[in-house]
Amino acid sequence: MNETEVVLNNGVVMPKIGYGVFRMTDQAVCEEAVVQAIRSGYRLIDTAAAYGNEEAVGRAIRRCGVPRDELFVTTKLWIPDISYDGAKRGFAESMEKLGLNLIDLFVIHQPYHDVFGAWRALEELYAAGKARAIGVDNFTQDRLADFLFWTRVKPAVNLLECNPFFQREDELAYLKSLGIQMQAWSPLSAGQNDLFHNETLCEIGAAHKKTAAQVVLRWLTQRGVAPLVKSSDPQRMKENLDIFDFTLAESEMRRIAGLDTGRTCFMPRNTGAAVTAFLEQAVTGSAPSGKVTDKPQK
Ligand SMILES: NC(=O)c1ccc[n+]([C@@H]2O[C@H](COP(=O)([O-])OP(=O)(O)OC[C@H]3O[C@@H](n4cnc5c(N)ncnc54)[C@H](OP(=O)(O)O)[C@@H]3O)[C@@H](O)[C@H]2O)c1
Repeated sequence: MNETEVVLNNGVVMPKIGYGVFRMTDQAVCEEAVVQAIRSGYRLIDTAAAYGNEEAVGRAIRRCGVPRDELFVTTKLWIPDISYDGAKRGFAESMEKLGLNLIDLFVIHQPYHDVFGAWRALEELYAAGKARAIGVDNFTQDRLADFLFWTRVKPAVNLLECNPFFQREDELAYLKSLGIQMQAWSPLSAGQNDLFHNETLCEIGAAHKKTAAQVVLRWLTQRGVAPLVKSSDPQRMKENLDIFDFTLAESEMRRIAGLDTGRTCFMPRNTGAAVTAFLEQAVTGSAPSGKVTDKPQK
């Protein structure tokens, strides 16, 4: 274990920074990007059944030149499969597409449908040694508290949107109190709110000879959050990993805290109508791949 890794609540070691492939729907582009990312130094690859690119990720894993046991691969169970039987089927399909017989982290992608049935199946996969860790995704603390009350194995991670404009301090404190690792999705807000040119982030970056993106990724890891970041550019892939040679001062952390808006950078799903529309898209198959889900607000 070194400073680029975290230990999950079941003892499994996970890289702090992961490479995400959401919205990479072109298979060849995705395969090349993952090979490039691994060669740039990433050891965690974050995909999902809903991203439609598990086969490309699997091909990249086989040809990247890094042994499988040095990589940490995450995939996720999509909404129609979130049930006991669906989870068994979804897991088998994901493993076949990835060409793997062991997944490092298998998570329930959204807190909808039969999450309790699905979790029983995930617990069985974990007990059988087919998943090294199991977790949840997009579970806000009200849903997570209910989930934990009725389940046996505690999730190792919870994935949440987390970036300077939506900092989730309350969610992070709750997860820390439970020993559940928070992974941040869209840590750079997918560029929303002009993050890369934000004055505060650029000023702090200039003081450390770092970019705004590096400041954000460092800020997340200093808070104990593990970011999942995406870039299709080899230089930026490397840049996003190069955050372990500087430390943000308390005063800089406080300045970044001041950027919080308390609101998602994407389409909120906090109303009945929004969740219903989202579920309809998921069930009809129009929501995978990011065309509809997590659409930027502007
Ligand atoms: N579980 C979930 O519900 C969920 C939801 C959303 C995302 N995720 C995960 O989180 C990952 C990352 O999220 P994301 O792709 O939405 O957003 P992100 O990583 O916050 O931002 C990606 C965007 O930032 C740009 N970028 C990256 N590094 C940069 C740098 N150093 N300087 C300037 N621009 C930079 C990228 O452009 P270039 O490619 O041109 O560099 C891309 O447009 C996803 O791929 C996925 O694995 C999970």
